[in-house]
Amino acid sequence: MISQRLSRRTLVASALALGACSGRAQTPEAATVAVPPLKTAAPFPVGAAISVGGLEDLAYQSVLLANFNQITADWEMKMEQILQPDGTFSFAKADMIAAFAAQHGLRLHGHNLIWYIYKPAPFAALAGDKAAFTKAYANYIQAVAGRYKGQAVGWDVVNEPVAEDGDGYRDCLWRQVLGMDYVAVALTEARRADPNAVLFINDYNLESNPKKRATFLRLIEDLLKRGVPLDGLGTQTHLEVDQQPGAVKTAIRELAATGLKIHVSEFDVTLQRHPLMSRADKLQAEARLAGETAEALSALPAIQRYAFTQWGVRDKDSWLRHPPNAGDGTDAPLLIDDDGLPKAAAAAFVRGVGAKI
Ligand code: G3I
Repeated sequence: MISQRLSRRTLVASALALGACSGRAQTPEAATVAVPPLKTAAPFPVGAAISVGGLEDLAYQSVLLANFNQITADWEMKMEQILQPDGTFSFAKADMIAAFAAQHGLRLHGHNLIWYIYKPAPFAALAGDKAAFTKAYANYIQAVAGRYKGQAVGWDVVNEPVAEDGDGYRDCLWRQVLGMDYVAVALTEARRADPNAVLFINDYNLESNPKKRATFLRLIEDLLKRGVPLDGLGTQTHLEVDQQPGAVKTAIRELAATGLKIHVSEFDVTLQRHPLMSRADKLQAEARLAGETAEALSALPAIQRYAFTQWGVRDKDSWLRHPPNAGDGTDAPLLIDDDGLPKAAAAAFVRGVGAKI
């Protein structure tokens, strides 16, 4: 019995030792096959949402630089960080993100200029004076998009304009003062600020909510018909593990039918909820969805494949692992696990873009 126990203990110890030697942490969710760096496998840029705080961790930087060639600021380039209560602009953190991109030769995707959730005091104070409001609105867009002219390859100019249920458009400060023209005005000012930036409208649940996708596309068609400057569509692709197979492909195909560039802009698959599914089944669903998304983007003409961006670097960096969205703190929504190792979802993504592993 001892010898049996010994041999089992020896076996486990040697496996762990082997794992340690190979530098591969024995995390339960790392892929069981060798997965090449994501950016080398895909025929389009592969991005991650990053934060200034994350960059302070060298392990985070190492995983980021190994796998990704595009970055989006999780927070630092948004109005909530840039526009101060006194109406001045603070670019310190946004500049750190831009500097990191320049230092490492990474594409920088700007996110975002106008978002329905913001009702900042400097703008709210002008709500009764449309001319002054419009001037301040244009000035903000010019100041931000102009500052990163030649650095940001593209911008989410307007984020999430469609109502949650897809029934019409969001009510927001911008729309209350400018009407739905707030979208066209923002795009026009962004084009003026940086003529070479790829201008996007970005939204979520476009795969899971066909009604929302139809409303989104009606807005896009109207803007294009009016000759409003618009170059791309961001489909955030925040998915649930019970997402119907094929829905992501259908959404990307319909969005691409506009002829605009497509950015899978915030990919993640939350494992939260769905208590009847085992974690293993959820991870399998996550991998299936990563593969479907990769195939759908790869199937587009090269000129329409803007990028695939996951919303975070490692699972533990995800917004879904931090309050108020953290749930029980065990979510694993990304292609890269807590230890920086590629998961089954990463292997499925690499296969989905047509690379051999
Ligand atoms: O880091 C500061 C901290 O120093 C400060 O004390 C604290 C005070 O509130 O704020 C902290 O910043 C927070 C930031 O995340 C970094 O953690 C902001 O409050 C918080 O608003 C911000 O949340 C971000 C959220 O957008 C709102 O900007 C999330 O990280 C970010 O993942 C999330 O991303 C959005 C996309 O932009 C649009 N699509 C949905 C996606 C998920 O909600």
